[in-house]
Amino acid sequence: MSTEAEQFERISTKIFQDSNAAATVVAEEIADLIKSRSKDGKTTVLGLATGSTPLPVYRELIRKHREENLSFRNVITFNLDEYYGLNTDHPESYYQFMWQRLLGHVDIPEDQVHLPSGTTERSKVYANCAEYEQAIEEAGGLDYQILGIGRTGHIGFNEPGSTRDSKTRLVTLDALTRRDAARDFLGEANVPRYAITMGVDTILKAKRVVLMAWGQAKAGVVQQAVEEEPNENLPAGLLQGHPDVRFFIDESASVSLTRIRNPWLVGPVEWTDRSIRKAVIWLSNKANKPILKLQDSDYNEFGLGEILTDVAPAYDINIRVFNQTQHTITGWPGGKPDADDTSRPERATPFPKRVLVLAPEPDEDILCMGGTIHRLNNQGSEITLAYLTSGNLAVPDTMARQVLSLMSEMEKELDQNLAEDFSLGKLASVLLEELQSTEGDTAESSHIRQVKSLIRRNEARDASALLKIDPSSLKFLDLPFYETGRYRAFNPSEKDQQDLVELLQAVKPHQIYFTGGLADPGSVAGVCFTLLKQALATTASEAWVDETYLWSYRGLAQEWPLFEIDMAVPLSPDELNHKTEASFQYRSQRRQFPLRDSAHKEIWQQTDELNRNTAAAYDDVGMAEYEAIEAFKRIQLSELLEG
Ligand code: F6R
Repeated sequence: MSTEAEQFERISTKIFQDSNAAATVVAEEIADLIKSRSKDGKTTVLGLATGSTPLPVYRELIRKHREENLSFRNVITFNLDEYYGLNTDHPESYYQFMWQRLLGHVDIPEDQVHLPSGTTERSKVYANCAEYEQAIEEAGGLDYQILGIGRTGHIGFNEPGSTRDSKTRLVTLDALTRRDAARDFLGEANVPRYAITMGVDTILKAKRVVLMAWGQAKAGVVQQAVEEEPNENLPAGLLQGHPDVRFFIDESASVSLTRIRNPWLVGPVEWTDRSIRKAVIWLSNKANKPILKLQDSDYNEFGLGEILTDVAPAYDINIRVFNQTQHTITGWPGGKPDADDTSRPERATPFPKRVLVLAPEPDEDILCMGGTIHRLNNQGSEITLAYLTSGNLAVPDTMARQVLSLMSEMEKELDQNLAEDFSLGKLASVLLEELQSTEGDTAESSHIRQVKSLIRRNEARDASALLKIDPSSLKFLDLPFYETGRYRAFNPSEKDQQDLVELLQAVKPHQIYFTGGLADPGSVAGVCFTLLKQALATTASEAWVDETYLWSYRGLAQEWPLFEIDMAVPLSPDELNHKTEASFQYRSQRRQFPLRDSAHKEIWQQTDELNRNTAAAYDDVGMAEYEAIEAFKRIQLSELLEG
């Protein structure tokens, strides 16, 4: 039975503190099902997904197999989908994914595993898909289907437009889906255009369905699938009405659900400073009036009458929220020396502060908070910009080729005597050949990855130099989890954490700027965030930690909503231009061809828009009108370590 808070939800949705907590429950359900059916001599038919979402479930199932004797001898599996055109030995094929991430670690007989074939001759695809459907039926139908959800709202590869009665078939991948897969394939151009997927109807016929979603990037589609009328433009919404479907999501994927976004619309609310701010800012937007002009009648009309009786009359609440919001704005992100700091986001002392900016990849620091870094530096803070990973996986081959061609041609063009002293050009030629021969394949040599790391390092140096940051302030950690990994397959170890602990201990920062708290825990930013949490837990008893303020920047995709911002740093038009100029240095992160999707912006356009929109949001509620604003949320150490 759903609760009052869930009244807008058409699919039973459970919010877990994090993906591991949810995955434990899913794995437990699957294990119980396998055990109870095995006891009765029955097989269990599992519908499986790939991608980063199910990984914590697979890890837990493997653990259960190893430590709790969970056997897969009586399990039959059917995967949702496979890229069309990829061999089973291609590193990005779902066949490889499944054997590496789950099947190869448990005792399932090979002939009980089924994946759609990505290499069936085109003329035989239709018949092959029909056989896949039939095989599922002959196995007794899917007992338990797990799903992830794409940012298009797809399940399996049923993209928008897929019908409720669709069956297993060949489909064309959506542009957004291909872009999301670009990093796995080292460039969008290498991503297959087609896939074979179970249909919506195939999935709906499963006896139980659990869809999982982690991270802020999924919040929007989860809300639509759960709360909106089902329609074919959002295939996950077609799960509504299935007799046993549940969504298991983490907190960051839940933020757009009405019960989280506007809790006062679904039931009684516990009024805290934050929830009052959230409600009043929402009301100001809804009524299209600045905060100080809101009247009792506005509160009543938009369903917030309760706050007036529970807390105070409109006049008092307005002033309170106005002041709170006003006090988040500061031109002194490192604290203003010799000034009264009672209502400033940062302390005046100590001054200058030691500031540590952590960026998961070399670009997020400047893109997300370049203006703030510039100010901190100008105002005398001692800045360290630490890049946690090399980011080489996100550098397209074309860029590496340009650099290597340059090096190899330099040798040929330059004076021969001079060139003989250098073997660099020769090395470049060898690597160029390698790049040529592995085109489209994602298994690259560590040398090519190194070249790509250097490209990103140099971009980071150029960008920070434009902001007048001393080059010695840049630290490239090149954490090993990234160097030995690939997207969706990062496996951090003790060494990663140790490197971060050493950095923290060397800097002893008064301020740490970080990101990734709302990201998919399997993404680069998500892994870096978990490592930071672990490193802070390890150092928690050291004296400097008590003095550290933790400031979270949200990332490129989204800015904090107004009510969550604790520090807002305004940028003048000149400062914004300056930041944009710095952002131009990240050439390797440019959009790649084909440029079909005009909604997809260059990164400098994204940050520009984000910062301008934040300024506009302040303006809308009646604050001063700034050109642009970078925003931060303060996180208490205890909150971070608990979460
Ligand atoms: C995978 C699949 C897809 C993914 C979805 C989410 O077999 O069918 O629907 O579940 O694209 O991908 P991740 O989990 O990587 O975010």
